Amino acid sequence: MPKLSLSKEKIKVVLLEGVHERAVENFLRDGYTQVIRLTGTPPREELKALLADARLVGIRSRTRLDQEILDAAKKLIAIGTFCIGTNQIDLDYARQKGIPVFNAPFSNTRSVAELVLAELIFLMRGIPEKNAAAHRGQWIKSADNAYEIRGKKLGIVGFGHIGSQLGILAEALGMQVYYHDIENKLPLGNARAVDSLDELLEKVDAVSLHVPATPQTANLMGREQIAHMRPGAYLINAARGNVVDIDALTEALDSGHLRGAAIDVFPTEPASNADEFISPLRRYDQVILTPHIGGSTQEAQVNIADEVSNKLIKYSNNGTTSSAVNFPKVALPELHPDQHRIMHIHRNVPGMMQQINRVFSERGINVAAMYLQTLDDTGYVIMDVDSRTANADALKADLQAIDGTVRVRVLH
Ligand code: NAI
Repeated sequence: MPKLSLSKEKIKVVLLEGVHERAVENFLRDGYTQVIRLTGTPPREELKALLADARLVGIRSRTRLDQEILDAAKKLIAIGTFCIGTNQIDLDYARQKGIPVFNAPFSNTRSVAELVLAELIFLMRGIPEKNAAAHRGQWIKSADNAYEIRGKKLGIVGFGHIGSQLGILAEALGMQVYYHDIENKLPLGNARAVDSLDELLEKVDAVSLHVPATPQTANLMGREQIAHMRPGAYLINAARGNVVDIDALTEALDSGHLRGAAIDVFPTEPASNADEFISPLRRYDQVILTPHIGGSTQEAQVNIADEVSNKLIKYSNNGTTSSAVNFPKVALPELHPDQHRIMHIHRNVPGMMQQINRVFSERGINVAAMYLQTLDDTGYVIMDVDSRTANADALKADLQAIDGTVRVRVLH
């Protein structure tokens, strides 16, 4: 196992917002002993003090890492977001400071797909309104408007991680799957691509949305699109709150054009569990309302903790950035025992490689392997060198002296 220029026991790891214990276990197992785990996120000034000597930090969605906080975190080498979103971080600024950011893009994919599948079954059986009525003492024993999902047509908008996983599960239960995506996506299983959204909406018995929040997806399902859906169809949104025009949805529910819906995400969501959930959808028995928990399962929490902590550990131990969201992507092999690994993060300006090469040639160092990637304003070059001919500390000092160098790390 290669040694870091700073031993693992000296590397402070800060995990905020109640990241799952599994992440702590992973760090400890790998030899990182200075792991601090807090259930919340401290106020700004305390956060700055906490991060002043931290090398690795793990957050969830509530900790904002803006320029001021990143400037205060002088020793930080990487950030992990133990969630999917990364917009709580100034990603460009982090890159300019030589800090890659890692997230967990598909740790909760299965959880969302399973919830949607359950909702499809419940909606098509009319369970939401029968359940609500039973709680009020009413007995609706009837097969009216109660259907199996087998043989029904499901339309998936956005055939990415979640959409395609849902398609496979729905097909396993006998549904016919159609999808619409703006990208050309591999039609997994027997799923069929449909060129336009309107065409998809006209074709299917239920529509489930799995698109990201972009300017194009805001109010993607408005009055006009809902009108294109089949009479008596169902709408499911576990994507983002602003993808559906809620007023248009309530009109379609009032008129009976849509028979039901399942909504997990809302244009405005309560800031905490103590706040009231306010939505015009509360009055509809035929609508399943869930508090943005599509991806919230114990399995997903463990998956996220594993995925992100392992990415941070890998970057710290060997320099790999292949899944970073803001950084040049490099996948690195294990370091050979007779080699040092020099990792140089720099401003992406002409002549940089020439200066780096000059340092190596002047010192007579044989480079065994070299990897280089750039992203926008930042370059990341990694050189594995023969440890018998290279004095790592002297080399590091020379490289740090090159104008435009952001950070140099050494494994030996
Ligand atoms: P993804 O990035 O793997 O897939 C999104 C797909 O949508 C891509 O294939 C993309 O090409 C497509 N797309 C983008 N714009 C489109 C448009 N205008 N029309 C049609 N297709 C379009 O994302 P993933 O992981 O499948 O997540 C999908 C959504 O689910 C995201 O909005 C995410 O925030 C949300 N989500 C919600 C959770 C919850 O708790 N409810 C948990 C996890 C994710």
